[in-house]
Amino acid sequence: MNFVKVKNYQQMSRQAANIISAQVIVKPNCVLGLATGSTPVGAYKQLIEWCKKGDVDFSSVVSVNLDEYVGLDGSNDQSYRYFMNENLFKGINILPENTFVPSGIAQNIEEECKNYDQHIKDLGGIDLQLLGIGVDGHIGFNEPADCFEKNTHLVKLHESTIEANSRFFENKEDVPKEAVTMGMMSIMQAKKILLIANGKNKEEILNKALFGPVTPQIPASILQLHNDLTVIYSEE
Ligand code: PGA
Repeated sequence: MNFVKVKNYQQMSRQAANIISAQVIVKPNCVLGLATGSTPVGAYKQLIEWCKKGDVDFSSVVSVNLDEYVGLDGSNDQSYRYFMNENLFKGINILPENTFVPSGIAQNIEEECKNYDQHIKDLGGIDLQLLGIGVDGHIGFNEPADCFEKNTHLVKLHESTIEANSRFFENKEDVPKEAVTMGMMSIMQAKKILLIANGKNKEEILNKALFGPVTPQIPASILQLHNDLTVIYSEE
C-alpha cells in the first residue's frame, strides 16, 4: 500500500487528479471507476481545468460509477447521475454514452445489478477505481455487514450513512433509504485503486480500515488485500 499524507484538501485533490490523468494519458481508452460525495469534487474540478487546457483527453475513456440511490432518476439533483454530470462529465470531453451509473429506478433492480456487473466484465474490468470512505468504513455503498458482498446489489443504508448524507438534502427524511452499489468483486478486480479521504472525522476509520483486521464490519478493510492501492489522506 502506498499511503500519502498531505497538508490539505487542495493537495489531496491535485494529487488524485494527477494519478487519474496519468492513467488516462498512459491508456487513453481506460475504464475509470468513479465515486461521488464531497471528497472527489476538488479532484474533478482539477481534471476539468486540465481537460479545458488540453492537457488530458477523455474522448476515449469509459467510466463506471460505484452507486446510485434507489428511487431517484438522473434528472433528480440528488441523484448520483446528476452529481456526476454536474461535477465532472459536463466539464470534460468524455462521451455521455461512455459514462455509466447504475440505475436507481430500474423496474427490476436485480436484473440491473446483474447487467451492471456483466457490463464491467465486458469492458475488461476497471483500470483505476477511485474511492472515498464513509465514516462507518463503507466503500461505494457497501455497508458494514456479516460478509463481503461480491456483486452489484441492493443495499439498505445504515443510519450513520443517512445521517452523514443528510447534509446534501433539505430534510433527513428525504435521504433515500436504499441504494444500488457495485460489490467488492469489481472493486477488488480493478487494476489500481485510489482511495481519498479528508477531515479529522475520517482518521479513525481510515486507521482501522488500513491497519486493523480485514473484516466485513469495516468494508474498506478488504482493500488491504489489493496489490496496487494508493491512499491519499488530508487531515484538514
Ligand atoms: P464523502 O463521502 O466524500 O461525502 O465524505 C464518502 C463516502 O461516503 O464514500
